[in-house]
Amino acid sequence: MGFNVAIDGPAGSGKSTVARMAAKELHFVYVDTGAMYRAIGYACSERGIDADHEEAVSEAAEKMDVTIRYADGEQHILLDGKDVSSVIRTEKAGILASKVSRYPAVRSHLLGLQRKLASESDVLMDGRDIGTCVLPDAQVKIFLTAAPEIRAKRRCRDYELKGEPYVYEEVLQKIRERDAQDMNRSVAPLKQAEDAFLLDTSGLSLEEVLERVVSLVRRGMQKDNTVSPSVSRQS
Ligand code: DC
Repeated sequence: MGFNVAIDGPAGSGKSTVARMAAKELHFVYVDTGAMYRAIGYACSERGIDADHEEAVSEAAEKMDVTIRYADGEQHILLDGKDVSSVIRTEKAGILASKVSRYPAVRSHLLGLQRKLASESDVLMDGRDIGTCVLPDAQVKIFLTAAPEIRAKRRCRDYELKGEPYVYEEVLQKIRERDAQDMNRSVAPLKQAEDAFLLDTSGLSLEEVLERVVSLVRRGMQKDNTVSPSVSRQS
């Protein structure tokens, strides 16, 4: 098994950006599990399958081949052999991902791939249930969060940079809806693992968050051979 770092947190907490940068610095493989759910949500919409129809989504998802390929250090997500990495980065794909991720059949379909990746390399994997379900034995677990208003402001800044229109209140409302959906589902809901470090990024810059994540991982790597894994990491 590789050295496993689990990073969980709500939408817009900055997980993906930080996890990608930290993985680069630490020479770990970055695994974005949200992209896998997005690929399934996107495929359902392309095929005209209603994301609220559990049976239809589950049946279709079980036949989908979701794989990951790395090129130039970046994760590419392949759906039935086709690279869908850029088309899944929309707000709509995020909402669809959140809907289809409620279904046990969808989650178990992706679990094998996620665990296989973690067993093959040193990974920094981000998502909602990595520390609690996917990699319960991860050597380092981090729960990244920030106030919904701060996350909404960050999203708005992204839209501004991309030159896309936005309405702050609508962005905030969508973040709240996604939080509620991800936290209240019955299977693998978003929650902090008991042994995860809590990192509230509300008042921190990207550089500060990155520095803390990298140092938590380095500390975990040093401790790995010397400290009993039962030592609580809750901060
Ligand atoms: O991180 P993201 O915004 O790309 O994730 C999209 C959705 O996928 C998220 O709202 C919930 C779901 N998801 C999940 O249920 N479990 C994960 N490990 C990762 C994402």
